[in-house]
Amino acid sequence: MKTLTRLREGFLTGTAGASDYWKGEGELSLYERTFAQRIAWKWDAVLNELALRLWAPPSRRLVDWGCGTGIATRRTLEQWPDQFETLALSDRSPQARAFAVGRLREAHPGRIARALAPEETDCAGAVVLLSHVLTELSADQLRRALSQWRNAAALIWVESATRENARRLVSDVREPLLAAGWKAVAPCTHCGACPLLRTEHERHWCHHFARVPSDVHQDSAWRELSKKLNVDLRVLPYSFVVLERESAREPEDGWSRVIGTPRELKGHLKVLACDAGGVGDWVLQKRDAPELYKELRKGESLPLHRWRVEGGRITGEV
Ligand SMILES: C[S@@+](CC[C@H](N)C(=O)[O-])C[C@H]1O[C@@H](n2cnc3c(N)ncnc32)[C@H](O)[C@@H]1O
Repeated sequence: MKTLTRLREGFLTGTAGASDYWKGEGELSLYERTFAQRIAWKWDAVLNELALRLWAPPSRRLVDWGCGTGIATRRTLEQWPDQFETLALSDRSPQARAFAVGRLREAHPGRIARALAPEETDCAGAVVLLSHVLTELSADQLRRALSQWRNAAALIWVESATRENARRLVSDVREPLLAAGWKAVAPCTHCGACPLLRTEHERHWCHHFARVPSDVHQDSAWRELSKKLNVDLRVLPYSFVVLERESAREPEDGWSRVIGTPRELKGHLKVLACDAGGVGDWVLQKRDAPELYKELRKGESLPLHRWRVEGGRITGEV
């Protein structure tokens, strides 16, 4: 647990960015079995949402930037097994990229990935995956990296859902790329300025919850990790943005995206949702739309809705 505690402290306090912290294959392997698995479930949620939105990667080239053990690439290849012709696993840590290449070869024999240092990674025209790397980038590093990604075809970026991360992902990645002509794919339903950045919504941040596989709760190793590291295994919040440089599709008007999960109060749900017009904290009473109520309460479907709102109440779907 000492290693995991040290790693986690670095991630949480924002000190991990200072220098390469990977201390050998054993440590990468431990990360892969623990933190990387939780990250994988977040990727599953994001990739599932992209599939439900009928989005397909606009390139045959994949770059995993800050790849660590390469979990994002392996999950992405499961989602789109035949999409990518070239794979690049890029990390400032030579040990991490070598580990990631090895794991990829085990999971997908026959697939060849190149291990690259960030400065030799060409992102032009590629789908770039980014995962849990934001807290390790200073403002300056992020600005420089953004210029490396500006000619990419798309970015899929998944992060832990702290308020700071979620808001930085929007203000320092989504907004500058949209200003440069990129399009928002998800979680947004529009390409306008993010309404959550307005002062009146300061207390909110764009985040969502991934499903944790049920067998995890019966697993003694996970239970021990949860106890020792104080990690709540029941909830798995994440934030993400998916952006593409050129888009064949314009977002359709009228769609709202649920943020977080609806809160159940006495006989009604409070639903925080974002759309092109702004952010609303709507009330949904069961009697107004029983089917929708059931669907939102279960939280199993794609959290995109076209609803009618009257006086702060959702009264049904359009
Ligand atoms: C917390 S790990 C996440 C790894 C992997 N993306 C994942 O989601 O499991 C962050 C990774 O980013 C790498 N990293 C940190 N700063 C970097 C930089 N400036 N350039 C490239 N890689 C960097 C670290 O070496 C580490 O492997």
